[in-house]
Amino acid sequence: MPTALITGASSGIGAEFARSLAARGSDLVVVARREHRLQELARELSARHGVAVRIVVADLATGDGLARCREAADEAGPLDVVVLNAGFASKGASWQLDREVEVEMVRLNCVAVTDLAFHVIPAMVERGAGDLVVVSSASAHTPLPYMATYAATKAFEAHLVEALAAELPGTGVRATAVLPGPTRTEFRVAGDASGPPRGVPKDDPETVVRAAWVALDRGRPRASVGRVARLGAVGGRLLPRRAVTRLVARWGRPRTSPRGVGSPPD
Ligand SMILES: NC(=O)c1ccc[n+]([C@@H]2O[C@H](COP(=O)([O-])OP(=O)(O)OC[C@H]3O[C@@H](n4cnc5c(N)ncnc54)[C@H](OP(=O)(O)O)[C@@H]3O)[C@@H](O)[C@H]2O)c1
Repeated sequence: MPTALITGASSGIGAEFARSLAARGSDLVVVARREHRLQELARELSARHGVAVRIVVADLATGDGLARCREAADEAGPLDVVVLNAGFASKGASWQLDREVEVEMVRLNCVAVTDLAFHVIPAMVERGAGDLVVVSSASAHTPLPYMATYAATKAFEAHLVEALAAELPGTGVRATAVLPGPTRTEFRVAGDASGPPRGVPKDDPETVVRAAWVALDRGRPRASVGRVARLGAVGGRLLPRRAVTRLVARWGRPRTSPRGVGSPPD
């Protein structure tokens, strides 16, 4: 039986990766903090597809959580697919955001992804098989004022995976970063009272998952998913960086804020 490990499987895109892999007959290791959500998913997938689902309750922004996840990865035996998806964002002016939340985001979106990728890749290369998927974001295409740390972490993920993918040909291991635009999930954007700007098209998690499988099969190291992500890719390549960040600063300014985001600190 093939085995897959998915981080951030308790909702949204990660849960959809778990559904897709279980439908292909893969046993699963599912990782997140909300145990009851992982249990519901495990019940659903083992009843529907007859696969074994191991639950790992871990906060991947912590050293302990990462150690638990690495241990579970080792115990699961050879991993055929690893999806590093857990992540969150924050929104607001830099002088108003919580420094600890920003650092926690770097731990989850960058440190955990690096730690787990470098933990699983050597065993995959030794076996001569394995797929690594990292869920980055359309935000990776340009710096994003008011989501500065998030965009930087997502650019980190995309760059990391693209470089790894270029090292892997001939090893039997494949890697891709998916860059979704706005997607219908429970995505946590810390500090955002206003939600996403109105009228922005959203994709379903199923579309993101399908794009990841297509990208792997076609040997693409990154895949932009949806209209917003594709527009971001083109804009990020063709437009002057300063013009893009100014535009995004105007477009992305949070609509509500107790102190009026966009004003300098008191
Ligand atoms: N939704 C979007 O519009 C969108 C667009 C582009 C990219 N993305 C990316 O897609 C990925 C998945 O997000 P989503 O949209 O599916 O949102 P979601 O429904 O909120 O899923 C996020 C997942 O990450 C897990 N997670 C969060 N913090 C964690 C921690 N400290 N330790 C372990 N697991 C943690 C959550 O589980 P627990 O809370 O149970 O721990 C949950 O399973 C993220 O990396 C995000 O950056 C989302």
